[in-house]
Amino acid sequence: MTILPLQKNGYKNIEHRLKLKYLHSANYLGNILQGIDVIQGLNQTPKNLPPQYFYDDKGSELFEEICGLPEYYLTRTETQILAHCAHEIAEITGKCEIIELGSGSSTKTRIILDAYAKKKLPLHYLPVDVSAGILESSARQLLLDYPTLYVDALVGTYEEALSHLPIKSLPNRMMMFIGSTLGNLNPEKCHVFLSQIQAALAEDEYFLLGVDLQKPQHILEAAYNDSQGVTVAFNLNMLAHLNYRFDGNFDLDNFEHWAFYNQEENQIEMHLRSKRPQTVQLRKLNLQVSFARDETLHTEISRKFDLNQIQMTLMGHGLKTTQVWTDEKGWFALILTQAKK
Ligand code: AVJ
Repeated sequence: MTILPLQKNGYKNIEHRLKLKYLHSANYLGNILQGIDVIQGLNQTPKNLPPQYFYDDKGSELFEEICGLPEYYLTRTETQILAHCAHEIAEITGKCEIIELGSGSSTKTRIILDAYAKKKLPLHYLPVDVSAGILESSARQLLLDYPTLYVDALVGTYEEALSHLPIKSLPNRMMMFIGSTLGNLNPEKCHVFLSQIQAALAEDEYFLLGVDLQKPQHILEAAYNDSQGVTVAFNLNMLAHLNYRFDGNFDLDNFEHWAFYNQEENQIEMHLRSKRPQTVQLRKLNLQVSFARDETLHTEISRKFDLNQIQMTLMGHGLKTTQVWTDEKGWFALILTQAKK
């Protein structure tokens, strides 16, 4: 018999309840392919970059700061909805593993974990994130705070995680994709993603989706043009990230933040606009890119959904609504669905 060392607070050592797996560094092909999306995006007109490059450790910190901004109603509203419906979710799903795509700091997940803990359900959590730093530190903090919790953390993209999910350790599963990250995917990418979700789930397993809904333009635009300039720093940080990752020389002072609501597409668009003509190198990618004055680099779309339409889309991918929760203003929605094969 092994005797587990006890920490000051009396909890068993967290190490035996933590697994941390790097999906891409374990994958040679993944390493070679890294950066191809950057080359492709920068060679297109208009230029664009994949939003996952926002989330280095600094970018994840800035995003956490955005979540607390007065103009950024999304996090606050989703948290309110969760606080109100988490016990119902636990009631509906019963014993299940909780997988979370894009877990970040896992702050909202605590509401779910609390609800499962209150029902004395086992706590198995599989957070997935591209930002290793925030993933590991939040996993460790969760393990300290939840003495019965097991964490199986996966560092990687959603695609990597969905095709490398460990074998189930509980009878059921709930995949969580909250925070309206689905809004980053254009309709084609959304289609591919939802197909991957459906393929990764077995019959009747759960998918919990959080989506931002359509609302007046001025509210949306304020959320992406905050008065403290945190969103500006978040947008520009993508260039700093590319600089150290690919040995580049983007000068952040040469770009400005531009975010607006595109009414036709029902999406916020974020761009970086070149203040002057300039040429930038990314040495590790053997890439040189020129920008004209006022040329834009598209960094993100953030789609705003219609509640009925998104449910139809989910249904079209074999994800059938079990229950929907919204706030009283109808600004944000949580949709619990079940996979049908
Ligand atoms: C994390 C993708 C949901 O689109 O609102 C915040 C990212 N971008 N401010 C969003 C973001 C600018 C956020 N998502």
